[in-house]
Amino acid sequence: MTARISLEGKVAVVTGAGGGLGRAYVELLAERGARVVVNDLGTDVSGFGKDSTIAEDVADLIRSRGGEAIANSSDVSTPDGGSNLIATTIEHFGRVDLLVNNAGICGSQPFVDATLDDFDQYWRVHLGGPVNTVKAAWPHMVAQRYGKIVLTTSVAGLFGIRGQATYAAAKCGVVGLMRILAIEGAEHGILVNTISPAAYTRMHPAAGSRTPEAEGRRTMPVEAVAPAIVWLASDECSETNSIYNVEAGAIQRIAIVMGPGFSDPHLTPESIAENFAKVQAIEGFSEPGPIEPGT
Ligand SMILES: NC(=O)c1ccc[n+]([C@@H]2O[C@H](COP(=O)([O-])OP(=O)(O)OC[C@H]3O[C@@H](n4cnc5c(N)ncnc54)[C@H](O)[C@@H]3O)[C@@H](O)[C@H]2O)c1
Repeated sequence: MTARISLEGKVAVVTGAGGGLGRAYVELLAERGARVVVNDLGTDVSGFGKDSTIAEDVADLIRSRGGEAIANSSDVSTPDGGSNLIATTIEHFGRVDLLVNNAGICGSQPFVDATLDDFDQYWRVHLGGPVNTVKAAWPHMVAQRYGKIVLTTSVAGLFGIRGQATYAAAKCGVVGLMRILAIEGAEHGILVNTISPAAYTRMHPAAGSRTPEAEGRRTMPVEAVAPAIVWLASDECSETNSIYNVEAGAIQRIAIVMGPGFSDPHLTPESIAENFAKVQAIEGFSEPGPIEPGT
């Protein structure tokens, strides 16, 4: 049986931790002994407004339970916000072991109504957030020869949800970012994984509609996702470059795989048409690994 996993001595930064999933992450990280930095700009679900008290309230709660926590209300969608968050972390705790990029915004509109400015707003939070915070944390992790980074994707991007082009495009970009961070981090002892969570929060599509609130909170609580963050943060986990779906007490790896396909040195449009069933078949798939330039 696995001994109780402890994060004693580790410093964990979680963005967007003033509510929803992020709050559950910092609560469990602190319970397992990590010193935590609770970042949250305090926006509404669409990314508008500001409220620094929500991060402070969560940090207060953790301290009241005997944990170590500080609050930070930087906007991680800006380079200054990312730098400020990590500078504050180093100033208070002297290191950064875990960086969970969780901050996010959500909305719904048909693709035809989404402007490039709308895409830009989602890109800046979901993909810009990780870029800004990882850029600031990276030199510290390299110097320590140790670091764990968790990014957040969504089934909206991986599998598709109607009306979420802006959100989905940004959330899938996160997977591409993970691939490269995992490759470039490996030589420095930096491990990078991505979580695809589902839990009943103000952001979940079921909120306020199909699922009655009490039922949603019971069957898909945020607390059911947090153990995956502690596992990824722990020294017991040496995984990198993986995506995990975590919801309602279940966890499973999500992979991008390639079918065996059809090949012909004289490929023609007609031979593709004739062999399309083989082109489409996924049985006997492989999971390609990183590509080294020049190979
Ligand atoms: N809830 C789900 O089922 C679900 C599903 C898939 C993915 N996700 C992802 O999980 C993450 C957490 O979502 P949630 O459901 O807890 O939503 P949430 O709205 O409760 O939490 C997101 C938090 O991020 C903060 N935030 C937004 N922009 C910020 C910025 N620029 N800087 C700092 N903080 C900022 C918000 O103030 C908010 O507290 C998001 O990345 C979301 O896309 C959630």
